[in-house]
Formats: sequence, C-alpha cells, structure tokens
Amino acid sequence: MSDGGHVWWEDAVVYEVYPRSFADADGDGVGDLPGLRSRLGYLADLGVDAVWLTPFYPSPLADGGYDVSDYCGVDPLLGTMADVDGLVKDAAAHQIRVIVDLVPNHCSSAHPLFRAALAAAPGSPERARFFFRDGRGPGGEQPPNNWPSQFGGSAWTRVTEADGQGVHPGQWYLHLYDTSQPDWDWRNPDVPALFEDVIGFWLDRGVAGLRVDVAHGIFKDPDLPDLTGSHPLNAPSPYRHRPELQPLYRSWRAILDSYPAAGFPGARTAIGEVWYDVPETLGPYLEPGGLPQVFNFELILAGWRAAEFRGAIDAALALTGGSRAPWVIGNHDVARPASRYRLDEGFTPQTVSRLIALGDQNAETGARRARAAALVLLALPGSAYIYQGEELGLPEVTEIGAEARQDPRFFRTGGEYPGRDGCRVPIPWSRTGTGFGFSLTSQGDGPAAPWLPQPAQWGRYSVESQLADEHSTLNLYRAALRLRRDHPALGPGTLRWADREGAGPGDGGLLCFAREPGFILAANFGPAPVPLPAHREVLLASGPVTGGSLPPDTAAWLSA
Ligand code: GLC
Repeated sequence: MSDGGHVWWEDAVVYEVYPRSFADADGDGVGDLPGLRSRLGYLADLGVDAVWLTPFYPSPLADGGYDVSDYCGVDPLLGTMADVDGLVKDAAAHQIRVIVDLVPNHCSSAHPLFRAALAAAPGSPERARFFFRDGRGPGGEQPPNNWPSQFGGSAWTRVTEADGQGVHPGQWYLHLYDTSQPDWDWRNPDVPALFEDVIGFWLDRGVAGLRVDVAHGIFKDPDLPDLTGSHPLNAPSPYRHRPELQPLYRSWRAILDSYPAAGFPGARTAIGEVWYDVPETLGPYLEPGGLPQVFNFELILAGWRAAEFRGAIDAALALTGGSRAPWVIGNHDVARPASRYRLDEGFTPQTVSRLIALGDQNAETGARRARAAALVLLALPGSAYIYQGEELGLPEVTEIGAEARQDPRFFRTGGEYPGRDGCRVPIPWSRTGTGFGFSLTSQGDGPAAPWLPQPAQWGRYSVESQLADEHSTLNLYRAALRLRRDHPALGPGTLRWADREGAGPGDGGLLCFAREPGFILAANFGPAPVPLPAHREVLLASGPVTGGSLPPDTAAWLSA
C-alpha cells in the first residue's frame, strides 16, 4: 500500500482541473481532455503530484457536468475514452496521478434510469431508485416536504404522468440540487450495486483515486421529514451526515484497497466532499477503514485574519494531523482567493455579490494576500489541493453578464446569487489572441470564443506573461512546490506555533509556526510591518522582504 512506509496521498499536492476551462485542443471554445493532455508538461513543471478532474462524463451540462447521464463514458465535447487512457498514461510518465470525480448523490434527468422512472408508473421498481412521492394538500399540489434545493427554490419537481387517465400532473421527485439532478435512493440495492461497478470501471482504467461529490449527503432519512428550525451544516439532518454513510464508505475503502498499484507504488485513494460548520462533524468520516480522505474546508471558509487562520488550522490538525483532510483555499465552487481576500471576512454565499459591489477597490491587496495564503497552505503538514488558475493569481471574474451566466444557482435564485461562473473562466495561456491561448488550434477562421467570456485584461495573468516575470505568482508557486519537495521539514509531520512571546494567538496579525528540522513560516495579516522572527535565511517570500521586517499581507518561508 505504501512506498517505503510513505503513502503518496498523505502529503500530495493535487491540482484540480475543471476540464471545460483548462485547455481546448479542438478550437471549439470548450476545454477538453486532449487539451489537458497536451498541457501535462506545464503541470509537471509546476510540480504537482496528481490532478483531480471534475466530471467529464456525458452530461447535458446543466450543472457543469455534475449532472451525469452516463457514469462510464466521456462527453463527446470533451473527448473519448481513448483520451482518458492516453491521459492516465501520459500523466504517469510525468509522475502525475489522475483522480476522477464520482457523483453518487444524483444523476442527470437525462440518465436512462431516470428516464425509465419517468416513463414508469408510481410505485414501480423504476421509480424506487429515486425519491418519487405524492404531493401534499388538495390534488397533491404541494411538494412532499419543505426541503430546499441547495441552489434555491424547492428540492421537489412535479412530473406529468401519462397513463390510463390521460396526461395530468402527478408525483414529485427529489433533487437536492437542480431540477435536472434527481437524487438516487441509496436504500434501493440497485443503487450501491451500480456505483460499485462505476468505481471498478474507473479503477480498472488506472485512476489513482476518486473525489466523492456531496459525500455528506447521499443517504436520506427514509421518512423524508420536514426540516424544523434552523439546520446548520453540522446538525443532525434528514439529508446530511447520516450514520448509514460510514458502512458504505467502509465498503468502498475495501474496494480501493483491493486494487493493485496503478503504474505507481502506493494505494488508491478517495476524497470526500463534506461541508460542515464545526470540524468535529468530520470525526465519523475519519474513522479507520472509511474514506481515506475528506476535504478540510477550514481555510476556504476563513477570513483574512491571523486568529481565524490559526483557529482553522488548530481545529483541523486536532482532528486529522493534516494528512487525511487536505488543505484547500479554493475550488470550482468558491470565489477565487485573490478576490475573496479583498474582503476581510470569510467566504459566504454573499461573497460574489459583495465583490461585484466593491468594483476595483482593493484588488492589489487581494492579490498580495492570496500569494501569502499560498505559502501558508503549502507549508502546512499533510496534503494540499490547488485549483487551476490559483497559481496564476486569477481573480474572480465579476463582470459576467446575465446572458453569459451558466450556473443553475444564478437561475434558481432569480439572479440573487451570481453563482460560481466567475471562478470557472477559461485559463489564459498567452498574452494575446482569441481566448488568450485557451484554444490550441483553430477551426476555420480561428478558434471559437471561450464558453465563458474572459475579461479584456486576462492576458496579463497568462502563463506566457508570468513565465517571463521572475516575481510572478506562477513562479512563486513553482518555487514553493520545488522547495516543498526538497525541504525535509515540509510535507507530512507536525507544526509548533511560534508567535512572538507574550502575544496571544495571532495577536498583532503575525501568524508564525515552526516545523522540524529548521523551518519557519511567518505571515503578516496585520496592517503594519512586523519584525521577522529570528532566522538564518529567507527561503522564499510572497512579496519583497527587506530590512528584517515583514510587510503587511506578506508571508515568508525561513530557515531557522
Ligand atoms: C458539489 C460540486 C458542485 C456541484 C454540486 C452538485 O458541491 O462541487 O460543483 O454543483 O456538488 O453536484
């Protein structure tokens, strides 16, 4: 299972790829697997250990591919199964493993089994794989319960029945997300059997792991009771953190552990997406024999304050030591760190609206803080995830017009929440040109415009511009990942807080920890410069460090 006692995923740096926005090989304006494959050299130079691909399966794309109509296929827009095989093989040649997304909570309403359920009668075995229920009130006009969709509105949609009584409004089905994403009923034995096959299918193709979508949500209380009062993310809930999850995850762990190494020494992993309010909620997920890993969303939710970061780090370390719950400051669901840190407070569903209202203010501050946060992230014990474009310091794109928006959250809230498109805008590879090099080839007159509009100044963030600038964010990430590989104190292990004597945790804005042997991280979250802690040498800094002091919004890696 391990390579000389070292389990690869315990300290891996994993790069999240949103395939439709990474690189477009065929010039249709939509990123694809051949595009990713041709950019593997970039990822190897960056120094990542693995890539996690968000869904590339056949999908109507109502929720960016998290509406899957065939779990064992490839959407023709993104490539073919031969491209997956080629990607896994080429990635291995670059020492990069591939993790794919598993979406077990729901499928697409275009999935053949859901279509069969719609065509079948109430009470049929086809409907029993999902949650079809009669409505409440006269004529069944009210949804069966009061659960909200995570994207806004009700979690129920009413179907039209065509039966012996003609065509008429009929039962309702449950979807915790979009109408186009019906929830599976995991108590129906067909469902776990289907997913065992899906897991085997991808592991057989040589992927190193699975990222489990909505891992906190897939079992529901069979009585589907109304929600009462408030229902924070950690509270017992009819559809979150159900005890039935753990036996299921133990069975998946057994499948993972039964697989031989895939072109690499070491075990296959699975990492659950588990949202929570208090870290203790992760406890059951981290019991031995369950999912190897779950995301640690402490830092993604933390505001730019030393005490908040320290609290988040302490809470997570107390539970996991960092290796089973990788650190992360951004992903395809959350506003980009370079923009988020323009605000002092942590991430909330209102963040994108607040950023839109902020206009151009504070942009430089946000960018500086994101660079500093990256050095904190990559110095922490354990494993870390980087979301594509973070290494370029990409800001959240706030100027996307309603006509260009794609996120169901935008539509289901009548525009109240702008949604997540702003962190999914295609990557700029070159300074100029249509799509800033996003498309590698042209069709006819030139490549099609990228599927989400890029801002006019996108070229300054491009890989081309940043490779030419030794102080760029890209070069900071490359240097940090190189050092992280080479420095004996980085990767797995522990940390010791080394805030200045007499100061409380994170007081004065300095966050400082030491790792053995001989490494210190210092980050200044405050408004004024602070003296650097005693050290021998500055190994790396997120901004200029001169005269022995650390400027605001700057972090440094020091040798002790
Ligand atoms: C997860 C995904 C998100 C998706 C949702 C529903 O939270 O990360 O992008 O919309 O699940 O599948």
